[in-house]
Amino acid sequence: MQGMIPEDVAKEMEGDPRLSALLADLQEALRSAEDMDSLERVRVAFLGRKGKITSLLQGIRELPAEERRRLGRLGNALKGHLEEELGRRRERLLVEELEESLHRERIDITLPGRHVNFGTRHLLSRIIEEIEDIFVGMGYRVVEGPEVELDYYNFEALNTPDWHPSKSLQDTFYVEVPGGDYEDVLLRTHTSPVQVRVMESTPPPLYVIAPGKAYRHDVPDATHSPMFHQVEGLAVDEGISLGDLKGTLEVFARKMFGEDRRVRFRPHFFPFTEPSAEVDVSCNICGGGGCRVCKGTGWLEILGAGMVDPNVFSYVGYDAEKYSGFAFGMGVERIALLKYGVPDIRFFFDNDLRLLRQY
Ligand code: DAH
Repeated sequence: MQGMIPEDVAKEMEGDPRLSALLADLQEALRSAEDMDSLERVRVAFLGRKGKITSLLQGIRELPAEERRRLGRLGNALKGHLEEELGRRRERLLVEELEESLHRERIDITLPGRHVNFGTRHLLSRIIEEIEDIFVGMGYRVVEGPEVELDYYNFEALNTPDWHPSKSLQDTFYVEVPGGDYEDVLLRTHTSPVQVRVMESTPPPLYVIAPGKAYRHDVPDATHSPMFHQVEGLAVDEGISLGDLKGTLEVFARKMFGEDRRVRFRPHFFPFTEPSAEVDVSCNICGGGGCRVCKGTGWLEILGAGMVDPNVFSYVGYDAEKYSGFAFGMGVERIALLKYGVPDIRFFFDNDLRLLRQY
């Protein structure tokens, strides 16, 4: 309050008993007003509709003119000064509050941050991408097919009729379909059915690869998993030969396993190719001299392949007189095991970050 009212005005007020009492009240009230709420209470008590200064100013109407002027002037001066003082105090409180909250909420940038675990792409996903890139670079298109498949695509149209001995070699998971025949629907045992689906819907020429999951009734061990990944390949065109297959797989093997890799074909049997072969790549660990990974042979088996059997073409309406083709299928886990020397296929599915981070 000190200094709130100019000295001459204060002196004049003190000469009047009503004003000096009011002034004393006001000083007392302001002394203890230290927060927003109490400032507001002071405002209401003195400047509100029934406030002391308001009442004083209302009461002067009945007074003689000269007295009215004097009290009016002093009362209004007091009102103005009080308003100013309240404004000043409010502002000071706001500044103090702001400073206090800035101090309270200060961020301590010296504290160590919280560690965030980032995921990475799974090794198998990366191998699949790598395989895709290699074949896309040779003009192939990436296609997909369903994992729940019909017997027709998985076996029959791949030249594997019910009586065929190779069918019993693949332990198949069948899917029970209400009202359907048992053994009509199954989890595909390989990605080869995608060949049939693509040929059914696309006229030749055709250059495709089909990555995806396959399922077999296998007991998990170091080299078997009931769910695994394959990449299927199919090329159909006029005049495609076994030499084209060999050249294509050589390019693939060198890009995947290293420039100086060699490829060899061993005669084999698949119902959907004739002739068929198992394809080996020279061991990338020992370079062909023989080691633990290649079991001393110098060679690693990486895929099955062959020339598309004309019977398969007849299922999809391709003209086997005009077109020929080759096909191949590789196991992604096996390629990853060989390329990175992973000792056990089950590591891929444990999803232990300590292992996955190594590759
Ligand atoms: N589908 C065969 C398997 O799962 C792999 C395979 C062999 C695919 C020869 C082919 C092929 O396309 O021509 O063992």
